[in-house]
Amino acid sequence: MKIIIAKDYDEMSKIATEIVAEQILQKKDSILGLATGTTPLGLYKKLIELYKSGRISFKDVKTVNLDEYVGLKKDDKQSYDYFMRKNLFEHIDILPENTHLPNTEAKDLEKECKRYTKLLETLTPDIQILGIGSNGHIGFNEPGTSFDSHTHIVNLTQSTIKDNSRLFDSIDKVPTKAITMGMADIMKAKKILLLATGKNKANAIKNMIKGDISQDCPASSLNLHKNVTVIIDKDASSEL
Ligand code: GLP
Repeated sequence: MKIIIAKDYDEMSKIATEIVAEQILQKKDSILGLATGTTPLGLYKKLIELYKSGRISFKDVKTVNLDEYVGLKKDDKQSYDYFMRKNLFEHIDILPENTHLPNTEAKDLEKECKRYTKLLETLTPDIQILGIGSNGHIGFNEPGTSFDSHTHIVNLTQSTIKDNSRLFDSIDKVPTKAITMGMADIMKAKKILLLATGKNKANAIKNMIKGDISQDCPASSLNLHKNVTVIIDKDASSEL
């Protein structure tokens, strides 16, 4: 695991952008595994700038997202589908049919999980972007999730619901379920890039890097992957 401590959020986003841009420049039909949350917003903004400056194109790129809430329509402003369109896809030359998220509007969600797992066998990310939850979750794989899991339906923990409620009008509006890529799906990515910023991530980062490899801290599984880069700011590294 390579650990880079950036001086602040902007520097973290810049380093991440260079890594993703390099990936696309080396392989124009790269498969990108994407994450939502506030952490990768700086990265997405800078990728849009690079696209607008003509340095990179997403014409042949394909994307697979980590997760999606259950109970929100794609056009709901809080859905991850909407988030990806507004914060990245609508500003670059990616083809909408080349972007993929779990479809939580499907009638049969178990069947949808199987479809997404199968899709990930074909669209295995060349690079997977990850954030981290304050309880160490990655995607929506909450503590206790088996390292062998594939795409599945999760009941979000109270701590995740509370963390994510800052983006909703009130806590009772936060969905309690989601579909997420499983731990085994995430670990199949060729490269993994985990980003974290702020003091509220410091404990999760410490557990990931210095704690035992255990299902209690899903992100600790990344120690078993051979190509992981972690980019964090000073605050997120404050407990190391
Ligand atoms: C959600 C997402 C994760 C994300 C986490 C942290 O739970 N499912 O993929 O990493 O939030 O989000 P933020 O970057 O906003 O702190």
